[in-house]
Amino acid sequence: MCGIVGYIGYREAYPIVIKGLKRLEYRGYDSAGIMLYDESGLKVSKTKGKVSDLEEKSKEIASSKATVGMGHTRWATHGVPNDVNSHPHLSNSGKLAIIHNGIIENYEPLKKELIKRGYTFQSDTDTEVLINLIEEVKKKENIKLGKAVQIALNQVVGAYAICVFDVEKPDEIVVARLGSPLAIGVGKDEFFIASDASPFIEYTSNAIYLEDEEMAIVRLHKALKIRKIKDDSLVDPYIQELQMNLEQIEKGGYDHFMLKEIYEQPNVIKDTYRGRLHANEGIIQMAGIEDNIEKFLQAERILIVACGTSWHAGLVAEYIIEEFARIPVEVEYASEFRYRNPIITSKDVVIAISQSGETADSLAAIKLAKEKGAFVFGVCNVVGSSISRESHAGAYTHAGPEIGVASTKAFTTQITVLTMIALRLAKAKGTLSNSDYFRYLQELEIIPEKVAEALLTNDKAKEIAAIYKDATNCLYLGRGYNFPVALEGALKLKEISYIHAEGYPAAEMKHGPIALIDEQMPVIVIAPKQGHYDKVVSNIQEIKSRSGKIIAIVTKGDTQVRGLADHIIEIPETSDALSPLITTIPLQLLSYHIAVMRGCNVDQPRNLAKSVTVE
Ligand code: AGP
Ligand code: GLU
Repeated sequence: MCGIVGYIGYREAYPIVIKGLKRLEYRGYDSAGIMLYDESGLKVSKTKGKVSDLEEKSKEIASSKATVGMGHTRWATHGVPNDVNSHPHLSNSGKLAIIHNGIIENYEPLKKELIKRGYTFQSDTDTEVLINLIEEVKKKENIKLGKAVQIALNQVVGAYAICVFDVEKPDEIVVARLGSPLAIGVGKDEFFIASDASPFIEYTSNAIYLEDEEMAIVRLHKALKIRKIKDDSLVDPYIQELQMNLEQIEKGGYDHFMLKEIYEQPNVIKDTYRGRLHANEGIIQMAGIEDNIEKFLQAERILIVACGTSWHAGLVAEYIIEEFARIPVEVEYASEFRYRNPIITSKDVVIAISQSGETADSLAAIKLAKEKGAFVFGVCNVVGSSISRESHAGAYTHAGPEIGVASTKAFTTQITVLTMIALRLAKAKGTLSNSDYFRYLQELEIIPEKVAEALLTNDKAKEIAAIYKDATNCLYLGRGYNFPVALEGALKLKEISYIHAEGYPAAEMKHGPIALIDEQMPVIVIAPKQGHYDKVVSNIQEIKSRSGKIIAIVTKGDTQVRGLADHIIEIPETSDALSPLITTIPLQLLSYHIAVMRGCNVDQPRNLAKSVTVE
């Protein structure tokens, strides 16, 4: 969910907004746009592509002396990246303009109602629905923009950071936030608005951060008034003097993008199931699945193709889909699948998992699958990416841009999507009891809180990292659902700290790897209460009897493993099937801290690319 920039003051707005958008480029985006207002009226320029493309395209308005303007870098969630879907969006009257970060969950019913009232839409976005809803409220109630925005937002379900402008009130910009960040830079006779302080820190270090469900009318020469969207109650503005430098702002105050993205997981898991998971009603609603449910239900098997971390998410999905929906699943490395002349038929459904949606091997694998008649379903994080366009249908993760090369929030949001698919298919096939089905939906809904609790193990992970940062080898063990998590934990460690690490099914130890165990070998064992606990305890005893150093991930309150392991990290309890979403968190933190202590380049590890677009 990318970038917003607004300016209202005495300076020329164009250079401030453009430069501000460049400051936000680090967040990743696919399109950009700008709106200016001067005595000749509203000017809008927007384009798919980079801010530099926007500069090229908006040359004709760059000379404007406008002193009020808004800009946007888009990370598409609804509507592919193209010029029309870029922001700003105008209302039907052309008098209202909006830029928006976030997702309007209930945009479809709102759009249907507005169409009934004669509204037309140029784009496929949820944002254009919001600006026309605001216009409809404003017209119907004959009220000013601020009040109209407030009433409209009380009809909206979703996440937003918005700037709204009315040509009839050109001395103000209305802002509001829920779930996406919005900062207001307070200058002398000027205001800046942005997703974070990076676009305005050079002009003022006085900032107000709106809290969720707050809005404000940013009006020149007037004191800023902040109100609660729900009940219109006033909120005292708290102006803070920022001490952060530009780089610190971009990383949200974290030392690395990877750490920022690890901590974003509670929110982005919520964003990923937002509008799709309705636990109390027992509904999972995913358009790509609903429209093709028969293909899944008639499938003789589901083939999952992916690479790296996405392949690990596929392994978790294999366990979940087979357990819940009883459909045979095979998980393949895309690079192997594409060259081994696989047997694929029209009875197969192929799921391609890819954060970037550009991984060459995965793209080639689905092209092969399509040639052989399979139905291909993409699970990607980048709207409009090659794999999402090549797939017959799909479901996006809403992790937002993942900047760190080591994949973290992409992994947990992929598992979130795949779990919802498994539950939806199980419901359709009746292979889960109603009570289990509801139980899993309710547990999935509270997973973000449990991930947040798991993040509290950070200090413990850092303490353990200091002890083992100089290890040369590491083993990761897990059983069942946590075998793929063991693989993922090992990948995290090796790719950012350059320590050799291997993941194994815990029972596999006695078939060879146990020969490696000695007092120099740290062994990370994933041992939650659910899922083969007693078997894992036996494996731990085998390791202990050979002087291995044991770091165990255990369910809070565990006593048995506590007595055996050298270190334990306690995580909240959850169901076995959903445990990968929690057990992976301390492993991400452990690898992060070890890499930092080893002086490695955590965000851009040597030899690695964020997206492997070549073979
Ligand atoms: C994981 O941390 C790595 N960045 C890498 O294994 C990655 O998962 C793999 O290259 C697949 O990328 P994709 O999800 O964009 O297809
Ligand atoms: N949901 C809006 C869109 O797809 C905003 C996306 C964003 O946060 O950039 O246009």
